Amino acid sequence: MSQVHVMDHPLIQHKVSLMRDRETGPKEFRELLNEISMLMAYEVTRDLPLKTVEIETPICRAQTQVIAGKKLAIVPILRAGLGMVDGITSLVPAAKIGHIGLYRDPNTLEPVEYYCKLPADAQEREILLVDPMLATGGSASAAIGFLKKRGCRNIKLVNLIAAPEGVARVQEDHPDVDIYVAAMDEKLNDHGYIVPGLGDAGDRLFGTK
Ligand code: PRP
Ligand code: URA
Repeated sequence: MSQVHVMDHPLIQHKVSLMRDRETGPKEFRELLNEISMLMAYEVTRDLPLKTVEIETPICRAQTQVIAGKKLAIVPILRAGLGMVDGITSLVPAAKIGHIGLYRDPNTLEPVEYYCKLPADAQEREILLVDPMLATGGSASAAIGFLKKRGCRNIKLVNLIAAPEGVARVQEDHPDVDIYVAAMDEKLNDHGYIVPGLGDAGDRLFGTK
């Protein structure tokens, strides 16, 4: 069974609360998502392997640690996942970026794929699949399926807000994928929205409603 990491650092909780507020407009919403994504990236990358290298400081030669092993790829689920990319790349500028286009059919709540473009060496990279909302889990589970179909094996899912239903769905479909969230909410409503949630993340991010 995969692990669920809830990153409830006070700064993250404070910023998530501001994002939830219906009075928060797109500019501030984007800035907050950016800041939270950067804070989450710090935790998500905690277990990156290190290797020892020898360098020369102004004082002496020294053995120090740098990141080794697999490189990262960030894969946002379009559209709302785009809002998490800049915050993460500000900490990991060498990461490559792929895109998966999915939307949730409003009637069936089933994910529909419309785009997929990954780095050529995605299979050799650790993938951070990012999307602010994990609701029914349909979109995330399908996106992980697409990544696996294209040979990716080392995948972490990073969400801002998750519903228990979405976590359970991803854990059942993909027990090898750990999930990192800033907040675990109570439930879904009858329309598949997270309660209390923050509404439609894509619309709030891009001001489309
Ligand atoms: C939202 C969100 C997730 C999905 C979550 O995207 O960004 O991708 O819904 O719901 P699920 O867990 O029930 O699948 P949406 O389909 O609204 O598309 P958008 O990002 O283009 O607004
Ligand atoms: N997608 C969103 O943007 N918000 C939700 O609460 C559920 C799905």
